Amino acid sequence: MNVPGFSVVVPASTANLGPGFDSVGLALGLYMTVEVTASKVWEVRYVDDGFDGLTNGEENLIVTTILNVAKQYAETSPILKLVITSDIPLGKGFGSSASAIAAGIEIVNHVLTLNLSDHEKVKLGSQLEGHADNVSAALLGGAVISYYDGENIDFTHVKDLNVGVVVLVPPNALPTEESRGLLPEQLSHKEAIRSSAAGCVLAAAIVQNDWVMVGKMMEKDGFHEPYRKRLFPEFDAIRLACKELGAYGMTISGAGPSLFVAVEAGLEDEVAEKLAALFSYYDCIAVQPSATGSMIK
Ligand code: HSE
Repeated sequence: MNVPGFSVVVPASTANLGPGFDSVGLALGLYMTVEVTASKVWEVRYVDDGFDGLTNGEENLIVTTILNVAKQYAETSPILKLVITSDIPLGKGFGSSASAIAAGIEIVNHVLTLNLSDHEKVKLGSQLEGHADNVSAALLGGAVISYYDGENIDFTHVKDLNVGVVVLVPPNALPTEESRGLLPEQLSHKEAIRSSAAGCVLAAAIVQNDWVMVGKMMEKDGFHEPYRKRLFPEFDAIRLACKELGAYGMTISGAGPSLFVAVEAGLEDEVAEKLAALFSYYDCIAVQPSATGSMIK
């Protein structure tokens, strides 16, 4: 057992990239840091404002992840105090819960010396999150394209991505369950084939770092965008403006309510500034992909 007195850093992530629904995740350069020390009772403290709704004891998602994973490996975790600082907007489509799960997996792996492989971490994370997209990117960094059927997981990892990112963040949060509730029970076979083809080309283009093609495919989703886009003020106008500004493409970030824009690497500040001038409802933030995933420091 490793004596606590360390930190874990975990990136945010964006999921789906359009038709890669529940499968594609991309780590973003916004980070959550968890300082871990020994304690007599489970204690979780959020340093920044904006985390008031989160639980501070054993019900906290990082803690339940630690306890759950320890149990699966027939071990007992030491009781810990977790102090959290985070740049990851909560409930805004940047995988904050997946980052919390990734943090929990890294902490329990470290304190109990479980020596989990990347595959085991991604499988545990996907089981706890229910889908693989955000959590695999939070754990591994870069982009991860996953197949997860509830039991088995397989994935392809692309570490270095040659792209810049702008995210448009509205003032309101949106719970993932609410956004998933907008999706239909069924799709026609024809629509599933078309969207699946878009997802296949999207994945191949990510692996090749061909962001012109990624951007094109990002905008061809039929799995979720048609059902969610009405939640986004000025969705069509923003997509058009992104095109006019030379962006590769624009899509919903995860389940929303934020938008994800892929741009040529190095142009993210300029595009963010121009979008901010046009769409004042949103906070327009330039970010880079994070090549690093969760890590102990
Ligand atoms: N793939 C998920 C969704 C991401 O779009 O609902 C959010 O957890």
